[in-house]
Amino acid sequence: HPEGSRIPEGTPVPHPMAIRKRPRRNRRLPAQRHMFSETRLTAANFILPIFVHEGTEDIPISSMPDVSRVGVDTGLLREVEEAVKLGVKSVVIFPKTPDELKTQTAEECFNPAGLAQRAIRNVKQAFPDVVVYTDVALDPYNSLGHDGIVRSDGVILNDETIAYLCKQAVSQAEAGADYVSPSDMMDGRVGAIRDALDEAGFTNVGIMAYSAKYASAFYGPFREALDSNPVIAEDWKVPKGKETYQQDPANYKEALLEAALDEEEGADILMVKPAMPYLDIIKGLHEQSNLPIAAYHVSGEYAMLKAAALNGWLDEKAVVLEALLSIRRAGATVILTYYAKQAARWLQEEDA
Ligand code: PBG
Repeated sequence: HPEGSRIPEGTPVPHPMAIRKRPRRNRRLPAQRHMFSETRLTAANFILPIFVHEGTEDIPISSMPDVSRVGVDTGLLREVEEAVKLGVKSVVIFPKTPDELKTQTAEECFNPAGLAQRAIRNVKQAFPDVVVYTDVALDPYNSLGHDGIVRSDGVILNDETIAYLCKQAVSQAEAGADYVSPSDMMDGRVGAIRDALDEAGFTNVGIMAYSAKYASAFYGPFREALDSNPVIAEDWKVPKGKETYQQDPANYKEALLEAALDEEEGADILMVKPAMPYLDIIKGLHEQSNLPIAAYHVSGEYAMLKAAALNGWLDEKAVVLEALLSIRRAGATVILTYYAKQAARWLQEEDA
């Protein structure tokens, strides 16, 4: 028996076994493990999503502990400053539109003085080097809660919606956005938005397309944060779910099709959303395309990890870094995550 082993005397141990290939050899010393590590997670990969509102207070989101809606002229700049200090230099902005500004055709989405536009301006003015992404979709402005315009029979209109999305994207570019990110899943919107941006002179504003966005139950906490659930209206037939435009979780090939179309139409980054339940989709897009792939680690994924961590059931730092690493390993270069600041802090600790 090997010296120092606790294996009881008399236990038959074939010693040594005739194993030529022993992958464990490369895992012995930390320097080896570090060298052979195939994937690295860094703060530079993260985009921090920020919810903004008209007020000045931080308003906690109950289903997303440690995440708040922040004031467009107050908490927003503090959030960005903290992120930048941690090496997170990209943010995506989501506005919580006051109810009285919501309409069935969501015109507020292209108001040059709207909440999103002001937030973009504020960030770019204070931090010109921060990369600002926006969300292009009608749901935060739509009194019926859908990403597109709802007709009285419940159909979400495609082409009519795109006309509004183009105006929305141009108004965000005018405010200083670096990337606009259509999350609405209307057909043909990427090409139309590309043309609209170019015609308005914004040839350098990029498009991060939510290419493979699934009709997922993991968006629940986000809809709480923005109060953007599809509503029940008495006179109008409003579909409860978004499955006539967002993708069926059962489908893989459909994601490849959507991504190919977005690429053809001029997308600069292709996104998969949610992230962890769709790692196969991330890998598929990574193999199909030469564009950078982004993955959105969404609100429900955040809530799940937080809940387990707060109960003491999981080691938060370890599981979060493992989760984000798995998203990188699947092929995502960019990760949108509510954990961006915290994960950046943990990564700094690891390096120290
Ligand atoms: C809206 C939008 C959603 C998310 C990002 N943009 C919600 C939805 O489609 O209902 C979800 C993000 C998250 O859950 O963190 N177009």
